[in-house]
Amino acid sequence: MNAASPNGGGEPVSRNIVRAEGRVTGADREAHFGHRAMTVWFTGLSGSGKSTLAFALEEALLERGVAAYVLDGDNIRFGLNRDLGFSPEDRTENIRRIGEVCRLFTDAGIVVLTAFISPYVADRDQVRAIHPDGAFVEVYVDTPLDVCEARDPKGLYVKARAGEIPDFSGISAPYEPPPSPEFTIDTSQPLDACTAQLLAALPLTTGR
Ligand code: ADX
Repeated sequence: MNAASPNGGGEPVSRNIVRAEGRVTGADREAHFGHRAMTVWFTGLSGSGKSTLAFALEEALLERGVAAYVLDGDNIRFGLNRDLGFSPEDRTENIRRIGEVCRLFTDAGIVVLTAFISPYVADRDQVRAIHPDGAFVEVYVDTPLDVCEARDPKGLYVKARAGEIPDFSGISAPYEPPPSPEFTIDTSQPLDACTAQLLAALPLTTGR
């Protein structure tokens, strides 16, 4: 285990606070759910297929009795992160908050799947750093920009090219691919094949 603490990292601004500890251990939670907990972090351009993959994997995991839940970029921006936009600072804060939520989910014993562009290596590495070793699985959804742009499922690339959306990832804002992700997914293969590949590779088995 690295420096991860049950409720996240970083210095709080509050003073006079003391960590509380429950009696249920990580091993108790593993025994309860029958699998290990982890964050499966999908990263890639808009339209790369992150949400599609995450939702397919969530379904496949639930069918196998694994407690899994998807946190999706657009959805989170309607609620928890509705105060954030797409400046570099806001994206960093977006990922920081989601990272803390993921840490809580994994602490609770659940497999959390995330679908955020998360364009910066440093932000993703920070999320990795607050997870126990092996509990952060980075999946690079490696769909080239021209393919994402041709798909354009939300019509956003057309708008970005027309200058109607500033700071659009891949067009007018950066995307930094992960230098060493646990997995790289080529989404030119069928969805079922991608899902099966991930299912087989996730380290779900408990040590018992
Ligand atoms: S992130 O960069 O902060 O990780 P996030 O995944 O939460 O982004 O949100 C990305 C989604 O917001 C895209 O899939 C797209 O639907 C929408 N979006 C709206 N404006 C932008 C923009 N300027 N850049 C990227 N995505 C945008």
